[in-house]
Amino acid sequence: MADTTSKDLGTELEELLEVETFDPPEGFVADALVKEHEPPADAVAFWAEQARELEWIREPTQALDDANKPFFTWFADGTINASVNCLDRHVAAGLGDRVAFHWHGEGGEERDITYGWLLEQTQRAANALRSRGIEQGDVVGIYLPMVPEVVVAMLACARIGAPHNVVFGGFSAGSVKERMEFSQAKALITADGARRKGKTAPVKSEVDACMGDLDHLETILVVRNTGTECEMDADRDVWWHEALEAAEPECAPAELDAEHPLFILYTSGSTAKPKGILHTTGGYLTQVAWTHKHVFDLKPEEDVYWCSADVGWITGHSYIVYGPLLNGATSVMWEGGPDHPHKGIWWELCAKRGVTLFYTAPTAIRACMKWGAELVQEHDLSKLRLLGTVGEPINPKAWLWYWKVVGGGRCPIVDTWWQTETGAIMVTTLPGAQHAKPGSAGTPLPGIDVAVLDDDGTEVEHGTQGLLAIREPWPSMLRGLYKEDERFVETYFSKWGKDTYLVGDAARRDAEDGYVWVIGRIDDVINVSGHRMSTAEIESAIVSHPKVAEAAVIGQADEDTGQAVCAFVTLEGDLEGSDDLEAELREHVAAKIGKLARPKRMIWADDLPKTRSGKIMRRLLRDIAEGRALGDVTTLRDPDVMAQLEGKVKEAQADGEG
Ligand code: WTA
Repeated sequence: MADTTSKDLGTELEELLEVETFDPPEGFVADALVKEHEPPADAVAFWAEQARELEWIREPTQALDDANKPFFTWFADGTINASVNCLDRHVAAGLGDRVAFHWHGEGGEERDITYGWLLEQTQRAANALRSRGIEQGDVVGIYLPMVPEVVVAMLACARIGAPHNVVFGGFSAGSVKERMEFSQAKALITADGARRKGKTAPVKSEVDACMGDLDHLETILVVRNTGTECEMDADRDVWWHEALEAAEPECAPAELDAEHPLFILYTSGSTAKPKGILHTTGGYLTQVAWTHKHVFDLKPEEDVYWCSADVGWITGHSYIVYGPLLNGATSVMWEGGPDHPHKGIWWELCAKRGVTLFYTAPTAIRACMKWGAELVQEHDLSKLRLLGTVGEPINPKAWLWYWKVVGGGRCPIVDTWWQTETGAIMVTTLPGAQHAKPGSAGTPLPGIDVAVLDDDGTEVEHGTQGLLAIREPWPSMLRGLYKEDERFVETYFSKWGKDTYLVGDAARRDAEDGYVWVIGRIDDVINVSGHRMSTAEIESAIVSHPKVAEAAVIGQADEDTGQAVCAFVTLEGDLEGSDDLEAELREHVAAKIGKLARPKRMIWADDLPKTRSGKIMRRLLRDIAEGRALGDVTTLRDPDVMAQLEGKVKEAQADGEG
């Protein structure tokens, strides 16, 4: 391996670009859990059978109930507890000493977190929450870095039936406040500070600066993580370790209806207000457990699994926490990013822990490609046997690099398509049963009915682009938008009626085998490094700056991040744009939303292209930013605006190059 120069690799990858399909490697197929992709004749019965793999308190006698479309329910007369399925069940089976997470900290710290330890901590934390007045149905916010306590916090909520509302640690405290307010959270679990690339971020004091006036937020539990100094409000704040020490070590799990809310997770939508995606218990656990086991071909006794996402996203919820724990898996949990303390850290940890199954995002693969194959090849990755990707379409070049350099040409790649809303993987390839095509996610999983439709809801011919849709309910589907029923129906079930879910992605399928190629979003949601961002949310953050009159944000194609945030900004009065102001606005957006929402590019505009009715024409802005010829501009109120903007963009490009 080490003698492969990058030139050889380059030629080899060029040649591989010609290969359209990759059969599952023979060595892999021999032991694969699934050797044939067989869509069941009765999808509901199929999922009912999978649900029986869970431990129920009261077994459900029914599966899907569609009496109140589109508010579908699954297994509604069953009762269950998620934490029991993730922990008690395994400990009772004698697996208390099995490692759930090999945790690695940025500074080289290591902690082995066993199922037994998780169960004990979870019960104490559940009691601690109860002692602070948290009851079944109360929402608990979680704003923590990637430390084992985040898992304990989530499962403690699940134990007492308090839906958790996790906010990604990279979002600003202002975003946390908004999400606590929307969900009327009664408690928040956070940390004194977080380690970020060798520096420490003062999380608790940032939270304090904006959470004061939320009177429904009665408790803040603070995990001591970095030793960063922070103030503790005697009435409201309590140290996590003190509360857990003081709590009883046993906490009987709440018997919850299968449709009891397990969590809310806010995600970007077409408007500035994020959507609170609501997931419930029985159906979610069923599909997450089944997909985690079968898509990753998991053999819990042998495999070491690593999903590099953050728990703050749905990928972390389903495939760091619930899926792996339901299946009794051993995972790696890494506190940081791919490039600190050095750019080979992921591969160093893979080698050290003998990782066999690795799941990441295309944007990370593209970054690693840039850093060079050598950083991967200097580590022994021979234990790897399967690779996965999620979050955005993967370009074939990155797919092939992943396949060759990371997987050594012997690991199948599963490209998994799904969403916060779908809760679990929907489209992919079953790795021992189906060939892969670089760039295509694959086919709908057994029991899932995904189709590409036209505007009228008719399935388009394979080969033609259309709108991705899901035609039958699935167990882990969102059950609504938190406290926004109307918006739920309007967003997902109004285009074609109450039976068919509108995904929000454009796609096409291959004629011969129905493989799905996801093209991208059809709404004003953009995908930056696999993270969903709302253009409207970023616009409103920019406009909230006193010097800004108006802003329009678009996603511009970007080699590294898939799409990048590009903002057209009109300033107040006679103000002139400058580099300083650009920096100031970027920081303003970081403070309002989070660093990942900062515009990569800012263009000062005297005016924005608008229709006669005053709507900003983002399509034209995208054309300008990506250097395409402009189409018809006659419907614009002031067609001259476009000429002016084109000039500005060219100027900016020339500056950038010079
Ligand atoms: C996109 C992440 C192509 C898609 C789990 C979807 C993908 C949105 C893929 C959901 C994939 C996700 N191929 N596109 N394999 N996976 N997407 O809610 O546009 O953060 O609608 O969920 O990401 O993003 P979300």
